[in-house]
Amino acid sequence: MSMLKSLEQLQAEGEAALRAIASAAALPDWYHAYLGRKGKLTEVLRGLGALTPEERPAAGKAGNAVKEALEHAFAARQDALREAELNASLASGQVDVTLPGRPVAPGHLHVTTRMLRRYRDIFAGMGFQVYESPEVETDENNFGLLNIPPYHPARDMWDTFWVNDQVVLRTHTSPGQIRCMKESHPNPIRVILPGKVYRYEQVTPRSEHQFFQIEGLVVGRNIRITDLVGTMREFANQMYGQGRKLRVRSSYFPFTEPSIEIDIDCVLCKAAGCRVCKYTSWLEIAGAGMVHPTVLRNGGYDPEQWSGFAFGLGVERPALQFHGIQDIRYFYTNDLRFLRQF
Ligand code: FA5
Repeated sequence: MSMLKSLEQLQAEGEAALRAIASAAALPDWYHAYLGRKGKLTEVLRGLGALTPEERPAAGKAGNAVKEALEHAFAARQDALREAELNASLASGQVDVTLPGRPVAPGHLHVTTRMLRRYRDIFAGMGFQVYESPEVETDENNFGLLNIPPYHPARDMWDTFWVNDQVVLRTHTSPGQIRCMKESHPNPIRVILPGKVYRYEQVTPRSEHQFFQIEGLVVGRNIRITDLVGTMREFANQMYGQGRKLRVRSSYFPFTEPSIEIDIDCVLCKAAGCRVCKYTSWLEIAGAGMVHPTVLRNGGYDPEQWSGFAFGLGVERPALQFHGIQDIRYFYTNDLRFLRQF
């Protein structure tokens, strides 16, 4: 049989076989059989070599035409079968594209995260950058370089989770001060250090064993305690409303000298006395002070040339006051009835 005849026959056979296919899933087999690398068309075209040079161009052209026709028929059959199958599936009711979609419950930020972002935005407005440091810390950063050597009684201020002899879960964000100073020297610093801290403490309605703090650290050439109080005043006004009264009490932290605690007039009772302020009219918002010369030195700054202030703010406790939440344990129990309120 001449090659042209064979090609003609192959096309007719291929088209008939395609029409006989009833499901899209069977189409790849047909493609392999007729148009694949080892398919029938390739086999017929292998005969080209045996033709005379005069016969070859016409046969080659016919071969291409058959290939194109079969490709075309394949694509058309594929479209037709797919459409038919979609229609059948729609008709049998498997998919009703007219139904409304399943609602996706929109999540929202946790009350702690919202507090953290509020703090961050307020301090960012005052030119503070965010410095992050690790939750697993060396004993040296968490205590030693903060002027709390081993066996110093002040260690009792922080009940500690020990990972091993020299490694702790940080008990406060203050070790970030050391990291930040070592990294920033000899430049001035104005950062907040937000993060999770851990304490081996009895859990009560006011105390968790894991909670957030936001540390602040400013180091410069001529930083004074009035800068600290002014920063805290601005923060309190923005956080709790303009015109806040501030009270500064003396305190003790080994890494600041002098150390202070800062209170604001109770936001809930407007100083009339209530359970939240324990009828004192004051709410504590921060422990703070001027960075101790030893700590400045440990961070690489010469205390003769540099001075600085630091403060530590809680996050959950102010949120309790802010939203009138009765128990700090709600923050970590993942109870949707609690979470959905914020
Ligand atoms: C400190 O941790 C100091 N590092 C703060 C500091 C920084 C002082 C820089 C000076 C300079 P204190 O242990 O008081 O201080 O903790 C600070 C805040 O963390 C508290 O005011 C409180 O809001 C919060 N806090 C402390 N313990 C708990 C707890 N168990 N649960 C929830 N919040 C707590």
